[in-house]
Amino acid sequence: MRRTIGLVISVIAGGVIAAGTAQAAGNPEAGAKVFTRCKACHTAEPGKNRIGPSLYGVVGRMSGTEPGFNYSPAMKNAHIVWTPENLNKYLTNPKAVVPGNKMAFPGVKDPKEREDVISYLETLGGKH
Ligand code: HEC
Repeated sequence: MRRTIGLVISVIAGGVIAAGTAQAAGNPEAGAKVFTRCKACHTAEPGKNRIGPSLYGVVGRMSGTEPGFNYSPAMKNAHIVWTPENLNKYLTNPKAVVPGNKMAFPGVKDPKEREDVISYLETLGGKH
C-alpha cells in the first residue's frame, strides 16, 4: 500500500515537472501532420531551402536570415524574432503580419492546429 502511494505521488510529480518544462502547449505529433501543408514549400532539414526557406531551427531565429534563401524585401526588413508568440501571429494571417511578404499561403486558421505546428517546429533544433 505504501509503495502504491509513493508511485502515485511520483507519477503526479513527474507530470507536473513535464508540464512545467514544456515549451508550448501544442502536440508535436499532431503538428507534424499540420506541417504536411507547409511541405509544398518548406523542408524541416537544415540548409534545404525550396520555394520557402528551411524551417529547421526557425524557432528563435530572426526573420529573413536563413542563408542562401532569396527573401522578399518585406521579410528581410521585418525584423521579427520567430518566438512561438510571433509565429502564432504570423501563421494566423501571414499577409497582415508581414505585408508584402511572398509566402503564398493563407495561414492556419485553427488555433489548436497552429499551437501544434509551432510545437512541432520547436522540435527542429530551434533557439540557436
Ligand atoms: C506556397 C508555399 C508556402 C507554403 C505552403 C508555406 N510557406 Fe512559409 N514561406 C513561403 C515563402 C516563399 C516564404 C518567404 C517569404 C518572403 O521572403 O517574403 C515563407 C516564409 C515563412 C516563414 C518565415 C521564415 C524566415 O526565415 O523568416 C515562416 C516562419 C513560415 N514561412 C512558416 C510556414 C509554415 C509553418 C507553413 C505551414 C503551416 C508555411 N510556412 C507554408 C512559402 C510557403
